Amino acid sequence: MSTPTSDVLIIGGGVAGLTLALEVADHLSVTLVRPALDDQGASRWAQGGIAAVLSPDDDLDAHVRDTLIAGDGLCDEDAVRFTVTHGPSAIQWLIDNGVPFTPDPDPSARYPYHLTREGGHNARRIIHADDATGRAVVDTLHEKVVAHPNIFQRSDLTILHLISDTEGRCVGAKGIDHQQHQQALLAKHTVLATGGASGLYRHTTTPSPSSGEGMVMAAELGAKLMNLEFQQFHPTCLFDPEGPAFLISEAVRGEGGHLLNEAGHRFMPDIDARAELAPRDVVARAIDSQIQQSSQGHVWLDISHLGETAIRHHFPTILAHCASRGIDIARQPIPVVPAAHYSCGGVATDHHGATSVTNLYAIGEVAYTGLHGANRMASNSLLECLVYARSCAKYLLTPEQRAKTAPEQPDWLQSDCLQSDCLDTMPLLNQDSSISLATLASVRSQLRATMSQYVSIVRSNQGLTIARDELNELETQLNDVFKDGLEKTTGKRHPESVRLQQALWLAKLTVLAALQRHESRGLHYSIDWPEHQKNTAASEISLEHLSPRT
Ligand code: SIN
Repeated sequence: MSTPTSDVLIIGGGVAGLTLALEVADHLSVTLVRPALDDQGASRWAQGGIAAVLSPDDDLDAHVRDTLIAGDGLCDEDAVRFTVTHGPSAIQWLIDNGVPFTPDPDPSARYPYHLTREGGHNARRIIHADDATGRAVVDTLHEKVVAHPNIFQRSDLTILHLISDTEGRCVGAKGIDHQQHQQALLAKHTVLATGGASGLYRHTTTPSPSSGEGMVMAAELGAKLMNLEFQQFHPTCLFDPEGPAFLISEAVRGEGGHLLNEAGHRFMPDIDARAELAPRDVVARAIDSQIQQSSQGHVWLDISHLGETAIRHHFPTILAHCASRGIDIARQPIPVVPAAHYSCGGVATDHHGATSVTNLYAIGEVAYTGLHGANRMASNSLLECLVYARSCAKYLLTPEQRAKTAPEQPDWLQSDCLQSDCLDTMPLLNQDSSISLATLASVRSQLRATMSQYVSIVRSNQGLTIARDELNELETQLNDVFKDGLEKTTGKRHPESVRLQQALWLAKLTVLAALQRHESRGLHYSIDWPEHQKNTAASEISLEHLSPRT
C-alpha cells in the first residue's frame, strides 16, 4: 500500500488554510486536513471583521502607523508594510468569491461596504459581515473548497507529528483516524494552518481553540519559534460561568460601547485618552485591575444608548446570543471579562509563510510573521491569514517550486509499518484506559489553571517560577501515565497524551520566554519589570531550551 501523496498538504481549515487551498488548487493537488465540525478552530468565531485600507479617506501609512503603535515597538516594519499593502487586494478577492459583507446603508458613502472601528485604529477600516464575519468568510470559502475537484478533504484525521526525510526536509505528516488507524500523508509542501495556543488557558473567546500543537510539531523538526510570551487576552468576553465561551466584539466599543465598573463609573477615559478604543493590552489590563478591586468578578459593557434598532442592525448575533442567556443588551449592560484570544508569537516565517525547515510553511495564527509585535491590533488577524495564504500560494506556484519532485516514501514508512509500531500512538480501549484518560484530563485542566493564574494579563517573577515548577510536575504526572499505565505494556501513546505533551512543552516554552523578558511591553506585563527596556528584540526559542526533555 502506498502512502497518499499530494503537491500541497494543508493542516487546518480556517481562513488561512481554505484561502491557500483555493489559491493553488487549479494547478496543484491539495489535501486539506480539517476537523469535521466547522466550529472548531478560531476563524469561524471571529466577529468584528478584517482591517484594510478601503475607504478613500484612509491611507496605507496610517494603517501601518496604527499597527506599529499597537505592537509597542516590536513589530517588524517590513512585515507590517507588506501585510497592509496587500490588504485591499485580499479583500477584493473575498468580495469576488462572494463573501456577503455588510453594505454601507448610506447611499452617498465613498465606499460601498460599511466600515467599522476597533481599538488602536484611527480610521474606520474594518470591513465586516454583520457581527459574524468569520462565519461568513469560512462558510463561503468552504463551499468552494468542497466543490473543487483538486482538493481532497480529510475530516477524519488528527495529525500528531510532521515527517522529515534524512536531510531534515519536511515530507508530510502523520496521525490517527477516527477508526484509530494510524495514517501518514506525504507532500511536496506541508503547510501548518493549525491556529494559536489560547487553549492553554481556562477561559477563551472560542469554545475549542488549539493549544499550539502546530507550533510544537514544527519545533520538533527544528523550526524557530518566536515571541511566545505575547498571548493576547481579548478585553470583552461574555461573563457567563454556566454558558459557552462567547466573544463580545470590539466593534461594540467601536460603535460607542462604554466600559463601566461595579459602581457604574466609566473608567477607561481616566486611564487612556483613547478610552475604550485604546489597544487591547491597555483595555484588558484596566479591566483586570477593576475586577481585582470588585466583588463581582466582571465589569460591564453598555451599548444600550445606541438604541434597539441600531443594535439589532449592527450586532444581531451578539443580541441573540445574549438574549438566549437572559441579557437584553438593548436595555441592560453586558457583564464582560478578558479571556485568552490570540497568540502573537508562533513559528517564524518569511513573507511567503516559509519556515526555517525546508518545504514546511506556516500561515495564520500558528505563524510569527512579525506583523503583531508585542500586541496584535484588532482585525489584523484575518487580514494576516489572507495575505500570507495568498503570498504562500503565489510562491508555491512559481516554476521553481512546481518543479520539485514528490518526496520518496521513507523506508520506515512502509504500509505494514503503518499498522504497527511506527507511529507512536494507539487507542486505549479497555478498563485501564479510563483511569489513564481521567489522569490526562486532570493534567490538562491543571495545565490550564496554572497558565491562567500565573502566565496571564499581569505576571511576576515569583508567579512565573511557580508556573515553571507546576508544569514540570505535570509533565512528571504525564510521563507516569506512560510508564505505569497501559501505555507501558504496549510501548505506545494515546493521541491525547501526545497532544498534552505538546501543550505542556509549549506552556513551558511560553513561561521561559516570559521569564527571559526583563521588561513590560505590550501583552507581557510584569510587576517586577514595569518599564520598557531600551534594547529590546523579538524573542526566539526552541525545544532545545527544554532539556532534558522526556
Ligand atoms: C472582535 O470582534 O473583537 C475580534 C476581532 C479580532 O480579534 O481581531
